[in-house]
Amino acid sequence: EKQGYKHFMLKEIFEQPARIVDTLRGRILLDRADVDLSEVELDAEWLAQVQKLTLIACGTSYYAALVGKYMIESIARVPVEVDLASEFRYRTPIVTENTLCVAISQSGETADTLAAMKLARGLGAKGLAICNVIESTMARETDGVLYTHAGPEIGVASTKAFTTQLAALGLLAVWLGRRRGTLDAEQAAVHLDALRTVPTAMEEILTDLEPYAEIAREFGQAHSFLYLGRGILYPIALEGALKLKEISYIHAEGYAAGEMKHGPIALIDEEMPVVVLAPRNGVYDKTLSNLEEVKAREGKIIAIGADDDNELRRLADIFIPMPEVAEVIQPLVASVAVQLIAYYIADFKGTDVDQPRNLAKSVTVE
Ligand code: F6R
Repeated sequence: EKQGYKHFMLKEIFEQPARIVDTLRGRILLDRADVDLSEVELDAEWLAQVQKLTLIACGTSYYAALVGKYMIESIARVPVEVDLASEFRYRTPIVTENTLCVAISQSGETADTLAAMKLARGLGAKGLAICNVIESTMARETDGVLYTHAGPEIGVASTKAFTTQLAALGLLAVWLGRRRGTLDAEQAAVHLDALRTVPTAMEEILTDLEPYAEIAREFGQAHSFLYLGRGILYPIALEGALKLKEISYIHAEGYAAGEMKHGPIALIDEEMPVVVLAPRNGVYDKTLSNLEEVKAREGKIIAIGADDDNELRRLADIFIPMPEVAEVIQPLVASVAVQLIAYYIADFKGTDVDQPRNLAKSVTVE
């Protein structure tokens, strides 16, 4: 069943280009520069006047929600609030009949996410679930479902379920923008073309595994890692740190790179590996100056950036090249790199990659 891969997680990492194709299939209408989500069955007129989206999720799916905020606010120009399901349900959230509550849950069975969705709908919101499991509780207890087509995920640490959630959120952003009249056909076409390049870009990053083997050899004994990203890649810094914690049991923290100087910079010394997500985009220069701050304090730099970025290559101790892609899809492509970093380190340490200690695939308790 592992098809020659050492672990399900590795198989699932390699499956991602195909599962993104599955998730996009039939949903992109190139001739109209639009997205077909008629399966979702939410009223277009209602959507056109929706005032706010509230995205709720747990764990890795919460990081997908954070990326979703960047995508939806920049593409559809509608305010998006993101919350952890376990926080949302115990505060007094502001939800009205003009709120769309989007719950993101791979399994569709996460207790806190189900309860948060129930609360939001009870307050009058309409509910949309982004979910990977047909007939799951979440899929049944909501107004509409946007399915990801990741296929069954066996590895406890989520990989392809996460990147297909990001693809679904990209589609949702364009769909909302078109329904609300905030996104013209020309701009929509640009974003849809970008989404269509994801599988190829992922294939490309999957062809060169040498950097990960080197990272495991060099830093497999480290006690702590820092992951830095800005903008749409900040959530991927959080996701990279979570993946490393989950499967290698090494402490890791994800930080918005601009926040470093407000505290975490105190941690940096020659013992500290720092993974920096720095492909060229709107915040590239800012990220690079954060990286210089790490370098000045002798932190060890693992940089993920454009293949031809010689300046970044020079600053990095280990460089992971990624193809040059549109900013909106950089989180999908960069995710593959952070997954592989965690996988190679865990495998180097010999942990039970597919069944990490203390973790379960679906969290049905509060
Ligand atoms: C981490 C991971 C978890 C889940 C979280 C939510 O790799 O898989 O953090 O993302 O338990 O699960 P779902 O998406 O099923 O609600």
